Amino acid sequence: MPDEQGILVGDAASFVAARTVGVLATADAAGTPYAVPICYDWDGHELWIALDAKPKAVTDVRHLRRVRNILARPMVSVVVQDYLTAAWEELAYVILWGTARIVAPADDGHTAAIARLRAKYPQYQAMPIDQLPAIAIQPTRVSAWGAVGPRADRPATLEADIRGRRSVRRFMAQPVARAQIMRVLEAAGWAPSPHGRQPWRFAVVTQPARRERLAAAMGAEWQATLAQDGEPPEVVAARMAASRERIRSAPALIVPCLYLADLDVYPDAARQEAETTMAVQSLGAAIQNMLLLAYHEGLDMGWMCAPLFAPAAVRAALDLPANWLPQALLPLGYAATDPKRRPRLPLEALVNWD
Ligand SMILES: Cc1cc2nc3c(=O)[nH]c(=O)nc-3n(C[C@H](O)[C@H](O)[C@H](O)COP(=O)(O)O)c2cc1C
Repeated sequence: MPDEQGILVGDAASFVAARTVGVLATADAAGTPYAVPICYDWDGHELWIALDAKPKAVTDVRHLRRVRNILARPMVSVVVQDYLTAAWEELAYVILWGTARIVAPADDGHTAAIARLRAKYPQYQAMPIDQLPAIAIQPTRVSAWGAVGPRADRPATLEADIRGRRSVRRFMAQPVARAQIMRVLEAAGWAPSPHGRQPWRFAVVTQPARRERLAAAMGAEWQATLAQDGEPPEVVAARMAASRERIRSAPALIVPCLYLADLDVYPDAARQEAETTMAVQSLGAAIQNMLLLAYHEGLDMGWMCAPLFAPAAVRAALDLPANWLPQALLPLGYAATDPKRRPRLPLEALVNWD
C-alpha cells in the first residue's frame, strides 16, 4: 500500500526534487480530466511549473487548457515516477494532490521560481518565461510508493560512499538540522594534520542576512575580476546570478579557513612554505571527511573555491578574525538534482608502478 503523508517532506520530497519530469493532471469545470507532462521545480513549499514558449497549439499561455482548468478548478494532482525499469523492486512514484494558482510575473515568488527553474533546466535560460505567468502548486496530500528513498542508492560501504559522493550545485529548501551540521564539522576534526595541530577553523552560515552579506561581498569581488578579464556584461550578469542563487539556495554553508597560528615557525622561507603546504593538504583532508560524512548521512555538499579569491571580503562579511584564511565555500543540504558524474582517469594514466 502507498505510504500516505500529510505534506511533501523527507524522502518523497527528495525524490520529487531530484527528478526532472512529472505529469500534471487537471480537470475542467465539468470534471473532464487532462494530463500533461511537465518540467517543474520543488522549492520546499510549492511545486512551480513555467508556462513556456515550447510550440503549442495556442499563442497566449492563458488559453492553455491546463491554465483554464486551474482557473476553473484549482484542485490538481501531479505524479513523478521511476517506472522505466525491468527491476520492479526499483519502481517508485510520488503522487501529490494540491491547490494550484496562476502566478503573474509581478507576484511574490515568481522571480525566485523562474531563477530556480532556469538553474534546473538550462533550456529555460533562452526562453522568456520570466515574462509569463507560472503555475504554483501547494501540496495538500502526498502518497509515495516503492523505492522512493533517495538514499537507497547509498549502500553503507566506505567504497560506495567514496564513489557515490559528488559535488552538488543545487539544493532543495529543506533545512539541515543543527545536530547534523555539527556531525559534519566533527568529522573534519578527525582528519590527519601536521603535528596534530588542526590548522583549520570553520565558519557556518545559516542566517539569511549573513548569507546575503557573503554573496554580495564575493559577488562584488568576482564582478570586478570578470570585468577585468573582458567578459561581456551579460555573461558577467548571468554568472553572477547563478553564483548568488547557489549561495542562496543551500540551507547551510561551511567556509573552511586555514589557521596557521599554531604551526611551527622556521627561520627559512622554504621550510615555512612546506609547513603551510602541509596545513593546506590537511585542510583538504578535513574537507573530504566532511563531504564523505555528509554523503553517508544522506546529505549533499558542494565545493566552491570563490573565497580563495576574495579572502578579505569573506572575512569582513562574516566578521572573522584576521588569522582565519578562507579557502572554500561548501554548500550543505539535500540535492535538488542528481549531478552528472565526471568520468575518472584510468589508473594506468595516474600510477607509476613497477
Ligand atoms: C579545490 C577545489 C575547488 C573547487 N571549486 C569549485 C567551484 O568553484 N565551483 C564548482 O562548481 N565546483 C568546484 N569544485 C568541484 C569540482 O568541480 C568537482 O570536484 C569535480 O568536477 C569532480 O566532480 P565530483 O566532485 O562531483 O566528483 C572544486 C573542487 C576542488 C577540490
